[in-house]
Amino acid sequence: MITINFNNVLSGRVGQKHGLTRSKLNQVIKKHAHICRQIQKERQVGQLPFMDLPYQSVNAIWKLARQKARRYENFVLLGIGGSALGPIALHRSLNHPFHNVLDRRQRKNWPRLFILDNVDPEEINALFKLIDPKKTIFNVITKSGTTAEPVSCFMLALSILKRKLGARYKNNLIVTTDPKKGFLRRMVEQEKLVSFEVPPGVGGRYSVLSPVGLVPAAFTGIDIKKVLAGAAKMDRLCQRAKPGKNPAYVSSVINFLFDHKKNKNMLVMMPYSSALKDMADWFRQLWAESLGKKYNVKGRKVFTGSTPLKALGVTDQHSQVQLYNEGPNDKLIVFIEPGKYRTKLTIPSLFKNVPEAGFLAGKTFNQLIRAEKKGTEIALTDNQRPNYTIKLPNISPESVGALFYFLELQTAYAGKLYNVNAFDQPGVEAGKIATLKLMGKKM
Ligand code: PA5
Repeated sequence: MITINFNNVLSGRVGQKHGLTRSKLNQVIKKHAHICRQIQKERQVGQLPFMDLPYQSVNAIWKLARQKARRYENFVLLGIGGSALGPIALHRSLNHPFHNVLDRRQRKNWPRLFILDNVDPEEINALFKLIDPKKTIFNVITKSGTTAEPVSCFMLALSILKRKLGARYKNNLIVTTDPKKGFLRRMVEQEKLVSFEVPPGVGGRYSVLSPVGLVPAAFTGIDIKKVLAGAAKMDRLCQRAKPGKNPAYVSSVINFLFDHKKNKNMLVMMPYSSALKDMADWFRQLWAESLGKKYNVKGRKVFTGSTPLKALGVTDQHSQVQLYNEGPNDKLIVFIEPGKYRTKLTIPSLFKNVPEAGFLAGKTFNQLIRAEKKGTEIALTDNQRPNYTIKLPNISPESVGALFYFLELQTAYAGKLYNVNAFDQPGVEAGKIATLKLMGKKM
């Protein structure tokens, strides 16, 4: 199971000014403990359906993937924001790092995965030139069905499919959208298209464990049942634990306290794993859209939220860490570290007598990446830069599912601490509406 080491947020490690005393932390954990019960109550009356996603049946998704996926060379996802970032994070963490350049046999016949989450004409055009639409399955994902980006890409894909395949275009299309609302749902019903539902009440950024994330994952061979099993395990752990032992709650309190009491209004997520790189990207949206709010739940202007940043260990040690270590002390750094990497790789025993390189000879890359993480952690802590480490036992469908669930629940708790609605995004909607007007939509 995931464990978290919070020692480096304590004043004993990073000093009184930048750290928390254990007693202050315990006091705040106790003070807000009711929010754990409040979240469970809201869940029980159906207000937080994302929390029940680990228990859904995925038989229909898995059956379709087994029947269809291997007949196609490509799976192209058309979606944006929550409808793309979760699927990208799942893919990157659990599929081969170079999935798309493996040959068919190496991919065990699963299709290549491409994700269009922008409307950059160059990128879209390049992708459509690269793929054979007849050998491609398109999955348009949009909960609202009104987002200009996936809708425009869908229009393009549909017109090409119809031109190339005539009435058989339906075979190459999967629609994931609201169960009732929107023109895509109407189209699904009229044209009898294959479709999945974004469950009502589950916003895009909380939807990775719904068909939004699970369909693309199943179509590339990820064991989605295990992903959900890991999330369910995290759910049970957080439900049963006392607040002071509930990792999602404790981390939300820490993140909140550092923003509110210690002037650290930047939250850096830094996984020491290339596979988890896009997890930080997904989290950036989750934290930013959920907590970055003008109004609190009482309608008072608060302009609140801490800014999530993403970094990659070790790559960003040579880019960002200089700033984190010596620049303004305005960040809380969250490392993510796998207990085990899926590969052990030895550095060849060369240059034994060369001081600049010989010390590496015969060691493993695993030792090196761990030493780099530890070294960065020590340097930051010595410089009074608060940080904590989320440790995954390994990178597996179960642990990735657990991590998604942990971070979603942490954000829901943080919504209570910040006293904002963590499930709406009026600031995004405003931009969407302005774009639609500029593009000539009658509002
Ligand atoms: O988290 C959210 O709700 C948003 O980021 C949406 O996912 C994003 O705006 C895309 O919306 P839709 O799925 O309705 O196209």
